[in-house]
Amino acid sequence: MPLDPDIQAFYDRGREIDRLRGGFPSGPLEMERTRELINRYLPGGGLQVLDVGGGAGVYATWLMGLGHTVRLIDPVVLHVEQAAEAGVDAQFGDARELDQPDASVDVVLLLGPLYHLRDAADRQQALREAHRVLRPGGVLFAAAIARFAALFDMLIRLDALDDEVLPIVAEAVRTGVFRGGSKVFTNAYFHLPTELAADVATAGFEDTEVFNIEGPGFLVNDFEQRWADPARREILLAAARLVETAPEMLGAASHLLAVATKPEHGH
Ligand SMILES: C[S@@+](CC[C@H](N)C(=O)[O-])C[C@H]1O[C@@H](n2cnc3c(N)ncnc32)[C@H](O)[C@@H]1O
Repeated sequence: MPLDPDIQAFYDRGREIDRLRGGFPSGPLEMERTRELINRYLPGGGLQVLDVGGGAGVYATWLMGLGHTVRLIDPVVLHVEQAAEAGVDAQFGDARELDQPDASVDVVLLLGPLYHLRDAADRQQALREAHRVLRPGGVLFAAAIARFAALFDMLIRLDALDDEVLPIVAEAVRTGVFRGGSKVFTNAYFHLPTELAADVATAGFEDTEVFNIEGPGFLVNDFEQRWADPARREILLAAARLVETAPEMLGAASHLLAVATKPEHGH
């Protein structure tokens, strides 16, 4: 399945491997909170995990360290190579067409593909594929970029909402479609919280919960200093926990995480 050339070129720059470790300012907050939320749902070790759009393997290696078996799929060859170098069982592939048997894994991570599939039908196909490969009772973790994330980030943290960027952000606010091309981030899709929950339910999942991953801390413009200070770091994490499921604050998130279950019976 073809990958948008702008998205390919964006990831070919090779920056994804460092994004969560500080390459993107609030990346460490995103990583810490994503791990914390995943941890709440994964009892013990020994689970079969499929990490779809797993990038360079940052979550895969962490889960392997916890005793899980992880297979990673990504459509960017560089990411597959980087993940393999880190010891992950990594293969080239696309979220819309997984080379994985039905009902064969306990957990699917979809932390990235929904950001980049701009057609609703493609996003639904990726979610249905996750549903197909999960065993009944298996758990899906699906991340999205929140609809207004770029508006907040460009205006408040970066002060970069200029004449060139404003129309791109305006379209994303109206429609979710972010035509960043090679200028800003890359081409993407930004979800409303209710839309993410509805997409997951339409694909056949139940018990969906949607979390605000970073909380308001992604907007502080001295993030690195605060994160480096253990006490201030705890405040950033505590602030995120305070509003993680507050419905009104989901709209002001940077990233959203939907957690849902494949029903034991039916579907
Ligand atoms: C922002 S990165 C996130 C990587 C990693 N999952 C994480 O959370 O750090 C988005 C990832 O989605 C991948 N991706 C983009 N389109 C995809 C698709 N159609 N199917 C699977 N993965 C895709 C990209 O190659 C990239 O590795």
